[in-house]
Amino acid sequence: MRQALSTSAPAEQATKTPSRFGPYDLVRILGQGGMGAVYEAWDSRTDTRVAIKVLRRDDAVSCERFRREIQVLKRLRHKGVVSFLQDGDCGPRMPWFAMELLQGRTLRDYNSELWSQSARDAITLPVHVVGDYDEPIHVCSPRSGPREVSPVASRLKEIGRLYEQVFRAVERIHAEGVTHGDLSPTNVFVRADGSPVLLDFGLAAPGRSEVVPDKDENALQPIAGTAHYLAPEQIRRERIEPRTDLYSLGCMIYETLTGTPPFDALEAAAVLRAHVDLRPTRLSAFWPRIPAALEDLVFSLLEKQQQDRPRSAGIVADRLALIVASEEHGSAGTHQQSLRSCAAIAAGGQRVEAA
Ligand SMILES: Nc1ncnc2c1ncn2[C@@H]1O[C@H](COP(=O)(O)OP(=O)(O)O)[C@@H](O)[C@H]1O
Ligand SMILES: [Mg+2]
Repeated sequence: MRQALSTSAPAEQATKTPSRFGPYDLVRILGQGGMGAVYEAWDSRTDTRVAIKVLRRDDAVSCERFRREIQVLKRLRHKGVVSFLQDGDCGPRMPWFAMELLQGRTLRDYNSELWSQSARDAITLPVHVVGDYDEPIHVCSPRSGPREVSPVASRLKEIGRLYEQVFRAVERIHAEGVTHGDLSPTNVFVRADGSPVLLDFGLAAPGRSEVVPDKDENALQPIAGTAHYLAPEQIRRERIEPRTDLYSLGCMIYETLTGTPPFDALEAAAVLRAHVDLRPTRLSAFWPRIPAALEDLVFSLLEKQQQDRPRSAGIVADRLALIVASEEHGSAGTHQQSLRSCAAIAAGGQRVEAA
């Protein structure tokens, strides 16, 4: 659905990928992202299938990140995080590791299926040109006015439960002192039973409030990550911390609920500027019946300043659980209902003051 606007592109590994890594024989490629390629592989000793991640870059920074990913994954043992199995080296800058082979699809494919009927609409969305910039920033807006019936409507509880589990997994890694730093729909897998799994810890900050080392050194490196999901502080090259992940998750849930990320443009640079300077279109502009509590929660995740976002992933998971529970009891307030009550008050209806 959404083309990844990668912000960095170091040189790709020129050498050919070997067909065997330790005890594992490569079977087929499963996916590749900015940093590595992931293959299905077979362990002939145990007749089991695993996934092998291999670095596709041969620069020192990528190699360092890859080794950090291995260290972080070795530490994290949780059902919401892909399980590490074994690591090794095929050459001086050719580290690899084996992990459990996941069955299911990425969150990106989940979104595509959810919005498949609307895929063409998403491509031809008219854009709002916002801001006084050299190049215009295009902000997605609903194609032909808000939708009374959104593809999300019948699956809101499922989506709420899915994200509640994503936030629980993120709460868990934060408790272990790890900030993921690159949460995006291709870095979250949805198992066949609907439970999410976090992948790709290549940009993880291992300390509770750490960033990419020194600001001057960092300024020389390209901004790493996927433009649509980067937090303002990552773009400004400031300190990242657990609430950086909350911003990325805000972008992801926004995309699942509307079919488009909060900021989109042809150029990654325009998306980055929008994260720093612009407010996204309200979700109710896409779907007026969205529960107000859900829209408010997503907007709180998208706050530009970390201190204005919810304090922890656990708090967000709790709020999502409440929203799902109110959906189950059919009591979630929509913006239309809020507007109706405002209209009633304006027309002389009585306001009920909180005690
Ligand atoms: N354990 C796994 N099982 C199945 N598929 C996987 C697994 N790990 C990764 N993938 C697939 O490979 C893709 C790239 O993996 P990822 O770790 O994100 O690499 P990169 O660092 O290059 O982005 C993922 O988006 C997913 O489609
Ligand atoms: Mg990835």
